[in-house]
Amino acid sequence: MSKLWGGRFQRETDRLVEDFHSSISFDRRLYKYDIMGSIAHARMLGETGIIAPEEAREIVRGLEEVLADIEAGRVEFSVGAEDIHMNVEQLLTTKVGEAGKKLHTARSRNDQVALDIRMYLKDEIDQVTALLGGLQNSLLDLAEQHITTVMPGYTHLQRAQPVTLAHHLLAYCQMFGRDRDRLAGCRRRADVLPLGAGALAGTTFPLDREYVAEQLGFAAITQNSLDAVSDRDFAVEFAAAASLIMVHLSRFCEEIILWSSAEFAFIELDDAYSTGSSMMPQKKNPDVAELVRGKSGRVFGNLQALLTMLKGLPLAYNKDLQEDKEALFDTVDTVKKCLIVFRPMLETMRVNKENMAAAARGGFTNATDLADYLVRRGAPFRVAHEVSGKLVAHCLEQNRTLDQLSLDDFKKFSPLVAEDVYEAIDIKRCIEARKVTGGPAPEAVSSAIAAERSRLAVEQP
Ligand code: ARG
Repeated sequence: MSKLWGGRFQRETDRLVEDFHSSISFDRRLYKYDIMGSIAHARMLGETGIIAPEEAREIVRGLEEVLADIEAGRVEFSVGAEDIHMNVEQLLTTKVGEAGKKLHTARSRNDQVALDIRMYLKDEIDQVTALLGGLQNSLLDLAEQHITTVMPGYTHLQRAQPVTLAHHLLAYCQMFGRDRDRLAGCRRRADVLPLGAGALAGTTFPLDREYVAEQLGFAAITQNSLDAVSDRDFAVEFAAAASLIMVHLSRFCEEIILWSSAEFAFIELDDAYSTGSSMMPQKKNPDVAELVRGKSGRVFGNLQALLTMLKGLPLAYNKDLQEDKEALFDTVDTVKKCLIVFRPMLETMRVNKENMAAAARGGFTNATDLADYLVRRGAPFRVAHEVSGKLVAHCLEQNRTLDQLSLDDFKKFSPLVAEDVYEAIDIKRCIEARKVTGGPAPEAVSSAIAAERSRLAVEQP
């Protein structure tokens, strides 16, 4: 088949080149957006009298048929037609003849492809945002069940101070909230119509760009034609936002992997979300969590690929930009898949409250509270820290916990200790006392849950 741009060429494209530069194998995924964009463009051409209104109607009818054909699987895309844009135009012309050849008036594939990706990305951002919201809902439900489930909080992966599982889960809820925020910012900047930029320098035809923007649901139109065809910031921003989502999921997965080991034994993953070993019959592996952790790498790689692809490009369009699509598509697919599988894995895990509480008790996580107690009784903090540290060393020697010491034991280390010390180092009370906003006390956590719930309800009614 002859090329849509064949006019100035005397020889056929080499087959190798045809395969090499064709993008139809992957940009076919944009067919719906490409057709919607073309329908809006054709209507505008008709409304403004750039083409005859009957011709515009012919084109719209033809494009609707092409869409139906593609959705019914009746279309074989052609590598020779390069990309989704020219495939659709060719299919259209086969259907409606001469009128079809007018569709590309006042338009280039350069502004067209920018339009398609922006439309695609806006939809995908909505989906990823909804998946994040769903995951946040599950976290809040789970947190509600574990407001008093004591566990050790860690620094340096060493038991540090007591917290609750609810508080720990809410930390991730905050991260996913920021992720949604970042996606909203990215969406806002993607929500700008590039059509009308032409190949790079706009067009001599009297386009009604606002009309097209309105039909396609864009909030604004681009203000510089060179920028409009060469800008892929939105792709980079999405890949960056997606990378952070993957960082958050990956850190969470790392904890789930640790917690499900016999060394921690804080949780047990459901059989449906674990897998076995082909050799070791006893194994139950957290493969899902490991795979999410592992897949974060490809998403970071896509971000790097996009940045590198862009950094040396002179204005305006360069074919390098075609490389944006696979990186973007893979990012979208990977993030969605991970978010979808992560949620039920989390919802079905069993929590071993007893082991969590025992780890908090056994790890001297109340040693800071003992020091704080001594401070309240008049000791300078540095002295209190020293005394509490010595008591911990004493307990370690005797294989006991702080609350198992007698009052006399305590008094040998500091005369300031009185009977009320036991209350001060009771793990439950240690948590209850941390009611500062953002702290682990049940009342602070309850209001944090309520705040997150209403935020979610406003953003995702
Ligand atoms: N397939 C191309 C891409 O994805 C469409 C734009 C091609 N424009 C051009 N002048 N070759 O970027």
